Amino acid sequence: MATEPLPRLDSDAEIRKHLLACCRLKPGDVWEDPVRRHKIGVLDATCPNAVSEIMGHKKAKVTVNDPPYNVRVGNKITPNLSKLNLAEYMEFSRRWVKNTVDILGEDSHFYAWLGADQKDNFQPLPDFMVMMREFEDLKARSFITMRNQRGYGTQKNWMAVRQELLYYTKGNPDFAVVYTDIPKILRGYYKKIRGKRVENLERSRADTIRPGNVWVDIQQVFYRMEENVPGAYAQKPLKAVERIIAACSREGDLVADFFAHSGTTLIACERLGRVCYTSDIDPIFAEITIRRLEHFRETRRTGFQFHNPFRELETTSEATDTKQKDLLTIF
Ligand SMILES: C[S@@+](CC[C@H](N)C(=O)[O-])C[C@H]1O[C@@H](n2cnc3c(N)ncnc32)[C@H](O)[C@@H]1O
Repeated sequence: MATEPLPRLDSDAEIRKHLLACCRLKPGDVWEDPVRRHKIGVLDATCPNAVSEIMGHKKAKVTVNDPPYNVRVGNKITPNLSKLNLAEYMEFSRRWVKNTVDILGEDSHFYAWLGADQKDNFQPLPDFMVMMREFEDLKARSFITMRNQRGYGTQKNWMAVRQELLYYTKGNPDFAVVYTDIPKILRGYYKKIRGKRVENLERSRADTIRPGNVWVDIQQVFYRMEENVPGAYAQKPLKAVERIIAACSREGDLVADFFAHSGTTLIACERLGRVCYTSDIDPIFAEITIRRLEHFRETRRTGFQFHNPFRELETTSEATDTKQKDLLTIF
């Protein structure tokens, strides 16, 4: 089993052909989990009928969407889209955001992961933020930056290591306090509470600090981590998504994500006892999402680390078909 970096599944037609043959769902299909009632679909997030296909009459408490960013990293372009011009990208964004706002419950939370390309006028983040003002039901709440460990553009510039996360609310939803694992060490910060002068650490309800809107305590996913899903080139860390879901929902609440990819939001929901409706336009990523859930239930492992999620292809490793062998070497 090779451990070299994997190719992107969206850009190799030959690999895609083999993997598509292993997929349970075709475009338009929705799979319902018999155990916890999660749903996984192969749907276009910009299409209103597709979104209502998976949602039915249900409304979500939280949406955590992670669309393609239209950002060039190295010589690669964002998934399933050749680089769009900005106007096209904004139209794509406006459509999926509208569909998402339509399925949010009365008091609910909206999150969107996004990028800002420092090699291209920081697009699309600023335009996206301005576009969001069209959605009057949503109130801007926080602009979170998560620090990635790997970046790009180090030769004559500061390395780009930020991952942006926008947070909006609809209505007046609850927000629970959550903590990081970072110990509280600020001393000498006194306040008077009920006439008594108390030190910062005395006032603490926890020994660790709250996350704030700059997250430096989360490891970017790479192939040695248990949660890694080979072939998924844009996987978000489970810890980040669990933080969002723990702060913004309760057990049994419905969480939606219309850009499933490796299924991170689904696994976070499974672990935290929420129900997740998630979909991807690409049947391969919908299949990977289902398999990640099944694998988690069988093994309690959150991902495949460097193992092939399409195990059935391994049985063909002794076949003489060189293309199959290439495929297995890649995994
Ligand atoms: C950045 S990835 C999401 C990563 C995900 N948060 C994770 O942790 O694995 C974006 C995903 O959006 C999917 N996608 C692109 N265009 C889409 C569309 N119009 N509707 C639904 N999914 C789309 C891609 O196939 C890709 O899997």
